[in-house]
Amino acid sequence: MAKTVVIRAHGGPEVLEIEDRAVGAPGKGEIRIRHDACGLNFIDIYQRDGLYPMTLPHALGMEAAGVIEAVGEGVAHLKPGDRAAYAAQPPGAYTEARVMPAAQVCPLPDGIDFETGAAMMLKGLTVEYLFHRTVPLKAGDTVLFHAAAGGVGLIACQWARSEGIRLIGTAGSEEKRALAKAHGADAVVDYNAPDWPAQVRALTDGRGVDVVMDSVGAATFEGSLDCLRPLGMMISFGNASGPVPPVNLATLAAKGSLQITRPTLFTHIAEHDRCQQMAQHLFDKVGSGAVQIRIDQRFPLAEVAEAHRALASRKTTGSTVLLP
Ligand SMILES: NC(=O)c1ccc[n+]([C@@H]2O[C@H](COP(=O)([O-])OP(=O)(O)OC[C@H]3O[C@@H](n4cnc5c(N)ncnc54)[C@H](OP(=O)(O)O)[C@@H]3O)[C@@H](O)[C@H]2O)c1
Repeated sequence: MAKTVVIRAHGGPEVLEIEDRAVGAPGKGEIRIRHDACGLNFIDIYQRDGLYPMTLPHALGMEAAGVIEAVGEGVAHLKPGDRAAYAAQPPGAYTEARVMPAAQVCPLPDGIDFETGAAMMLKGLTVEYLFHRTVPLKAGDTVLFHAAAGGVGLIACQWARSEGIRLIGTAGSEEKRALAKAHGADAVVDYNAPDWPAQVRALTDGRGVDVVMDSVGAATFEGSLDCLRPLGMMISFGNASGPVPPVNLATLAAKGSLQITRPTLFTHIAEHDRCQQMAQHLFDKVGSGAVQIRIDQRFPLAEVAEAHRALASRKTTGSTVLLP
């Protein structure tokens, strides 16, 4: 049996329940893993509150690290006793142990501890695809990155610095802006200031940034378009402040033939080989010290509701882990 966080209805943190679930044996293409740490991500909030609906009841959580206990038929890249970490569908990572598809589970290098593994897979693989698989980016390019002191944000700041990409970060408090700067943001802007798009433009001598990476959504979408240079790329990849309303495509023409995409990590890691390559790239960045994974909050798994409240109310910085 494994203590597992489940929801029976969509709603606030109060719908998070813990129940004992049987774990069972892995079938073809599956593994059984015992978790040492689970990652907390904003997508868990969207799934809990119903922005991303699920068939209920459902277990929650998309990221964890631990030890492989058993492997099913056809699994060649993992064996019992291996250390491993993952970001993967289906939700169910907030648990002591589970059976799940093996394809996205990655062997964890010895130099990376379990908490770090659980704190970095979903956020780090996201940064990997944002910087390397979404739009051609090269040293000297300028990126505007919102919520730069968050879990994805602090990894993005360091990743950009390691690639020679200039990152302008936004964050909602003085402390968060200082944190983003300390992790590699070239400049930081308070996006609570009404003129924040003008401030970003001024930081590019009026030209506009090459790319915006916007996970805040409704509150920042329009302003983000105003920060782009002609032919620039808007990457809308999240909805922390609410989903982006329907877009009039003519707006993109009027603002300078802008490009736009709305990616999700799970398309990028759908294929086993590509997922493992992306993970290796991430492990190399972390192993070399170019990217350090900052865990600023730790909660016992039983206090998962408190963890959700903290993330949703903008009280967190860096990554958060849940400890079974
Ligand atoms: N599409 C993908 O593939 C993908 C993958 C991973 C993550 N994401 C997205 O990336 C974003 C960051 O994820 P994360 O887990 O690392 O979270 P996070 O950045 O640690 O936390 C979210 C941050 O967003 C900012 N924010 C702005 N308006 C907000 C509001 N109304 N409510 C709550 N927060 C608000 C807050 O920072 P300030 O206090 O500085 O404003 C907050 O700390 C999320 O939107 C997530 O869905 C997308």
